[in-house]
Amino acid sequence: MRKSVVLVTGANGELGHGLIETMSEGGHDSILALDLVPIEEGMRRRCRETFVGDILDRDLMERIVSQYEVREIYHLAALLSTRAEFTPETAHRVNVEGTMNLLQVALEQSSWRGDPVKFLFPSSIAVYGMPDLETKRTAGPIPEHKWTSPTTMYGCNKLYCENLGRYFARFYRQLAEAEDSRAVDFRGIRFPGLISATTMPTGGTSDYGPEMIHAAARGDAYACFVRPDTVIPFMAMPDAVEAFLQLARADRNALSLCVYNITSFSLSADDFRTHVERAFPDAKISFQPHLKRQAIVDSWPAEVDDRAARRDWGFDPKFDMERAFDEYLLPTIRDRYATR
Ligand code: SER
Repeated sequence: MRKSVVLVTGANGELGHGLIETMSEGGHDSILALDLVPIEEGMRRRCRETFVGDILDRDLMERIVSQYEVREIYHLAALLSTRAEFTPETAHRVNVEGTMNLLQVALEQSSWRGDPVKFLFPSSIAVYGMPDLETKRTAGPIPEHKWTSPTTMYGCNKLYCENLGRYFARFYRQLAEAEDSRAVDFRGIRFPGLISATTMPTGGTSDYGPEMIHAAARGDAYACFVRPDTVIPFMAMPDAVEAFLQLARADRNALSLCVYNITSFSLSADDFRTHVERAFPDAKISFQPHLKRQAIVDSWPAEVDDRAARRDWGFDPKFDMERAFDEYLLPTIRDRYATR
């Protein structure tokens, strides 16, 4: 018989690393990791098996399910918001067609198992499109259903995939005579900007936060690409990983939404600089806004409303701004660069 596994796509990304580390430390021994580039050695040891390949490759997917029964999918592979603007068509293929492929794997596996496969999907604050700065400043925390007219390819892709997931979970082939027992148990989170102390993000537009802190720890100068007064929500990586795992464990019947906002703290780029300079007094941080990347960040909300996540599945982040810096980011980043 095939071994039952949890498939993680985009396993080499920063969320993938955090997730695989936490799952394997919790005793999880059935992780199957997939990425375009070989999975790093330290990660490989934590997985049952690793595959190098493209989520668009249907043959690879077939190979995987011929060997393994997939009971849960964390579909993390994506081209982030800045990178996607350079190659929107490729972004569409990877972000949308790739997700469609994985949803089909999930559907097929659900039918083999007679039980819906859980499909965990990272969406983003990029699905929002605030019309102007004044609205962004005055709107307060944005709930899931408001201001969803994104300006980026990545935001459009994520919003559509949220809807695809909801369709596969609730409406798949709704006109069929016979009740279709196959379904996908789709669960998504709109993550704020994520900050990891151990990995650097690539290709995102919220990256100025993590880039600033990592540059200071390395002793490098950093020119921030947004204005000092720019505010978006952020979250420390351990809280993001824990939220994903918590949502995966939640009782299906308690979930009133397919996709939830979550947030920890909103701060301006200038607040970020103050925190970084307090920890690294020699940090050389300047502001050189890139007008077009600035416009993207300006279209993202300053705060999101995560009451549904708190109510339905008990979301409760551990790291507020002070703790994120003092207890997670600074000590871990100092360690990381001290041992190099
Ligand atoms: N961090 C992502 C990006 O900047 C947003 O989800 O693209």
